[in-house]
Amino acid sequence: MNSPIIAPSILAADFANLQRDVEMLNESQADWIHIDIMDGVFVPNISFGLPVCDAINEHAKKPLDVHLMIEKPEKYLKAFRDAGAANISVHYEACDHLHRTLQEIRSMDCRAGVAINPHTNVQLLEDTICDIDLVCIMSVNPGFGGQKFIENTYKKVRQLKEIIAENNAHTQIEIDGGVNIHNAPKLLEAGADILVAGSFVFKSVDPIDTIQELKSI
Ligand code: DX5
Ligand code: ZN
Repeated sequence: MNSPIIAPSILAADFANLQRDVEMLNESQADWIHIDIMDGVFVPNISFGLPVCDAINEHAKKPLDVHLMIEKPEKYLKAFRDAGAANISVHYEACDHLHRTLQEIRSMDCRAGVAINPHTNVQLLEDTICDIDLVCIMSVNPGFGGQKFIENTYKKVRQLKEIIAENNAHTQIEIDGGVNIHNAPKLLEAGADILVAGSFVFKSVDPIDTIQELKSI
């Protein structure tokens, strides 16, 4: 088992001290910085938008992993690329023309991600799997940090892993929501490659240590 890619979610950071928290992540073993964009329509919450993503990018020394929880994400791909996104994940449930959107993301030299809600079956990705660089399996209902991990996620990871292998794809599997040191080993064992962690990192006594702990599983 390779060591996982760790992507702390900035949603759980102290927004009044964003620069400080981004610099902390720069010093840590975090691989990516996960950026949650919520529009109050696709999900029942509003987080922050382009100017904040841009400001994070000014200080970040790690790739920005942008998770768009918005309607009509295809309208904002270029804007998020310009705001520093290395990965752009759109929601399966928000895309009428997913295949086209994935190609657009790749054509901008970003990595193309698809996020799926807890009720969305991984089989629905079978026809696009070779066009997807990462699948973000939501292990909570998107919209808020600090929620309880949904146990059905392990099964989804195993099923998706099979689809990836059957299609000789190189897609990575990311888990987002309620990730902690107790469920992380089981997620990696099931086939996850990337762990997003918000509250578990930022609400811990020593976030740098916590990131190290996740990294060394
Ligand atoms: C949920 C977001 C997650 C969230 C994770 O809508 O997509 O990325 O920030 O936070 P925790 O780890 O606290 O569940
Ligand atoms: Zn997220």
